[in-house]
Amino acid sequence: MAVDMSTEEHQPPGISDRAAVARTATKNTLAEPPECRPLDVEVLRKDFPLLSQVVNGHPVVYLDSAASGLQPRAVLAAMDRYYETTHANVHRGVYATAEEATHLYEGARARVGRFIGARDPGREIVFTKNATEALNLVAQSWGRRNLARGDVVVLTEMEHHSNLVPWLALAEERDLELRYIPVDGQGRLDLSTLDRLLDGARVLAVSAMSNVLGTINPVQELAAAAHDNGAIVIADGAQSVPHTPVDVGLLGADFLAFSAHKLYGPTGIGVLWGRAELLEDMPPFLCGGGMILDVRLDRFVPAEPPARFEAGTPPIAEAVGFAAAIDYLSGIGMERVRAHERALTADALEAIEESLGADCRIFGPPAGNDRGGVISLAYRDVHPHDVAQVLDQFGICVRPGHHCAKPLMRKLGVPATARASIGVYNDLGDIEALIGALKEVGRLFG
Ligand code: ALA
Repeated sequence: MAVDMSTEEHQPPGISDRAAVARTATKNTLAEPPECRPLDVEVLRKDFPLLSQVVNGHPVVYLDSAASGLQPRAVLAAMDRYYETTHANVHRGVYATAEEATHLYEGARARVGRFIGARDPGREIVFTKNATEALNLVAQSWGRRNLARGDVVVLTEMEHHSNLVPWLALAEERDLELRYIPVDGQGRLDLSTLDRLLDGARVLAVSAMSNVLGTINPVQELAAAAHDNGAIVIADGAQSVPHTPVDVGLLGADFLAFSAHKLYGPTGIGVLWGRAELLEDMPPFLCGGGMILDVRLDRFVPAEPPARFEAGTPPIAEAVGFAAAIDYLSGIGMERVRAHERALTADALEAIEESLGADCRIFGPPAGNDRGGVISLAYRDVHPHDVAQVLDQFGICVRPGHHCAKPLMRKLGVPATARASIGVYNDLGDIEALIGALKEVGRLFG
């Protein structure tokens, strides 16, 4: 049974909520980042062709990387090269290009695995369509095999629908009990009742970084507490893996899901990393070609993971592009990516507050080690869709809406927000353009 948050007291998070800042129940347990050589954003921007587009008479200002990152030329070139020289189906043909395609596809698996510190990518990395499918895979496969009536699944109030609706659906089918870690007044998880929430739990499913608040959650600490209670841990890394260094050996989760397209790769491919011993014990999620050892008219024997979970022709060119995106980011270094985005987020929050003051309310924690570059805002009482529409007139791309986090919107007491989100190619100039255009919103809407 799901807890109805609408009956709970609303305490909308916002950085201007000083009382909430003082009251916060959680401490920041994330380590100080190391000193890093700064990114040369001006040089790096030249790698992204879309950034030279002109939109509505203005150079595009792309502030929507939480929805989808842009692709560097290296990714586009790798996919073109693959289609021009190699394309064939994988794990099937024995001719030279088919073997090369298989080699590239499996090579991509190895590179993606190394990027997140997987010990044995050949057994632990499953390619899916996206993070959503990866999270559904766990709920449908692990969940159906292991969960029964009355079992407890712990989620958080800040989950994206992808890490929430699969559990709501399974809870309805299996009569599970869903519990939620609340979000506090600063937009952090309130861990003061964690022990009680985890008592008897079988699953903890948590976003590693909120796509609305930018909060970077203490997954390591949560995973340790969940494991102490005998629960498995699923981390939604859709927002964290592209923007912070992630090592599954340190993270402590049992499963991690993320998408390539938020990581400057192509759409259509995502990842489920899972502990090999858990994946090996899970039944197939989708069935068809490529996922079996044997089939008879009355039964089938599934293949070992990851093939067991990759039915049908997989996203081969996308895997090639994904690997190129991983190489691109690794070439920059994830510590440097995080240092750049942490500093830019801090500068952006300060500049917005200084320039727009009370006109602009920003949701989520203040700048710091547990704050990522997702800046959800409300401008006066202008509807976020109107805000985004005006920004578009200045070539500025932000996402308005509920961001697939409706329960969190209810908690915040708003139907939607306008969300600016940063990537490796953004700098303070982009934030200044955003602020200038927000002032226009003020002039237009009075
Ligand atoms: N999950 C993506 C977002 O937050 C699409 O915008």
